[in-house]
Amino acid sequence: MSRPNYILEINSISKNFGGLQAITRLSFNVEEGLIFSIIGPNGAGKTTAINLITSMYPPTSGEILFEGQKLFRKKPYQVALMGIGRTFQNIQVFQKMSVRENVMVGCHTQSDSGFLRCLMHTPSVWKEEKVIRQKTDAVLKFLDLDSKADMLVGGLPYGVQKRVEIARALAIEPKLLLLDEPVAGLNLQETEEMAGTILKIRDTGITVILVEHDMNLIMGISNRITVLDYGKKIAEGSAKEIQNNPKVIDAYLGKEL
Ligand SMILES: Nc1ncnc2c1ncn2[C@@H]1O[C@H](COP(=O)(O)OP(=O)(O)OP(=O)(O)O)[C@@H](O)[C@H]1O
Ligand SMILES: [Mg+2]
Repeated sequence: MSRPNYILEINSISKNFGGLQAITRLSFNVEEGLIFSIIGPNGAGKTTAINLITSMYPPTSGEILFEGQKLFRKKPYQVALMGIGRTFQNIQVFQKMSVRENVMVGCHTQSDSGFLRCLMHTPSVWKEEKVIRQKTDAVLKFLDLDSKADMLVGGLPYGVQKRVEIARALAIEPKLLLLDEPVAGLNLQETEEMAGTILKIRDTGITVILVEHDMNLIMGISNRITVLDYGKKIAEGSAKEIQNNPKVIDAYLGKEL
């Protein structure tokens, strides 16, 4: 039997914050090209897992491999350059910048020139600037944001702002995209649109790690689901397996999802 192609391998990682053990010996592998979801009650360690994968801070122990390469001691921008993009539980967009500018900031994190030099428009960066504009336009079109390119993000509906944040993450051309609660605060219609967006991203070959409390979304679009409770993995499997797992049902009983 051939071994699945794992883009990400998490080997027994733990994370302590002082006396608090946020993650305990967590292991999972993410197969390339799928939507892999992480669920669990509030405080289970989902965001901490995303922060460890993106090297916002190092694990206390254990190791993470992306395409077979250890992420140990890599800076977040280096991890981004390797091909890992993310969005945040608390949306992080520049409200007073246009949609296009927000996405261009994403592109510049992978350019040689750096954002400030590009703002000064020296001749050496003109060519690169053109490439960045083309990439930005392609991402805007892909996420149906082209008609809003010149609008200020702050004036747009929340669902669109969330899409702008995803567009910025896509601008670095990631192979792996981590989404931390992409539909939190969205209405039903916006949530359905976001489901379509996530599937569309997956269908281009980008692997998606999805953290969400919205069980309809999770059960509807995930290829595989892992469940955390108090920092530990309690189950992993397909939507059907997870829904019928007594440990999962137990973990959620009486808790806010
Ligand atoms: N930087 C930090 N410093 C100290 N404690 C932290 C830090 N980040 C997270 N924690 C704690 O670690 C635990 C896991 O938090 P985390 O944010 O990962 O949970 P979560 O599963 O994302 O929850 P939610 O669904 O509410 O977003 C919580 O007890 C939290 O208070
Ligand atoms: Mg969280």
